[in-house]
Amino acid sequence: HSIAAIVPAAGVGKRMQSDTPKQYLTIGGKCVIEHTLEKLLQVAAIEKIVVVLSKHDDVFETLAIAKHPRISTEIGGAERVDSVYAGLTSLNDEYQWALVHDAARPCVEPGDIKALIATCTESTEGGLLAYPAKDTIKRANADGNVETTVSRELIWHALTPQMYKVHDLVKAIDFSLAQQFTITDESSAIEAVNKPSHLVVGSSLNIKITSPEDLHLAEMILQQQVN
Ligand code: CTP
Ligand code: MG
Repeated sequence: HSIAAIVPAAGVGKRMQSDTPKQYLTIGGKCVIEHTLEKLLQVAAIEKIVVVLSKHDDVFETLAIAKHPRISTEIGGAERVDSVYAGLTSLNDEYQWALVHDAARPCVEPGDIKALIATCTESTEGGLLAYPAKDTIKRANADGNVETTVSRELIWHALTPQMYKVHDLVKAIDFSLAQQFTITDESSAIEAVNKPSHLVVGSSLNIKITSPEDLHLAEMILQQQVN
């Protein structure tokens, strides 16, 4: 079951409102992407990690981790899906599975990644880390008032990593782009071609650093993981 990880890290971090792209903000002496890559490196089944960077990136190569033998880089594109696609096509059929994980999710637990890998390789079908909705869920009307309360029973929050056969994922993204579907994660592309995705329960602490307050949350979560 040869597995490569793709780490999209080519975003500008607009919602973070910081001059430094969020993957290079520091938490406890290391930048976000170093934390993320250290988590992936703890999973021995991941043979190679392709970090997908903006063509303007001049920071990654200055990090010590850039020289790690299991890590290589690729240039990304305008949208997350373009960056993931660039990473996938760089694999040249050498790997059966791709595990896509956002650079902006440093709090992922290696145990959760291993659980996803076990589910996918045993079933030979893809899947993603996710967790069941905890809050009561409302659907709004166009005025921003409550239209209805949605049953929470079947609602999940999608996380990363998301893991699919490289071949299936490339085909699914090709199809979705051709149809001009909006795809914000790998699972939505797979869904568009009617292939299954396992929902593997992962920690809700695997947050994506998106807005400024998330940095403080991530710091607390990472701190508690080392203890
Ligand atoms: N990403 C990427 N290529 C893009 C856009 C995003 O590789 N063209 C990556 C980001 O670097 C991040 C992950 O995809 O690790 C998740 O995206 P998101 O949280 O949206 O990051 P940004 O796009 O950087 O942030 P924003 O949407 O606020 O600008
Ligand atoms: Mg974005």
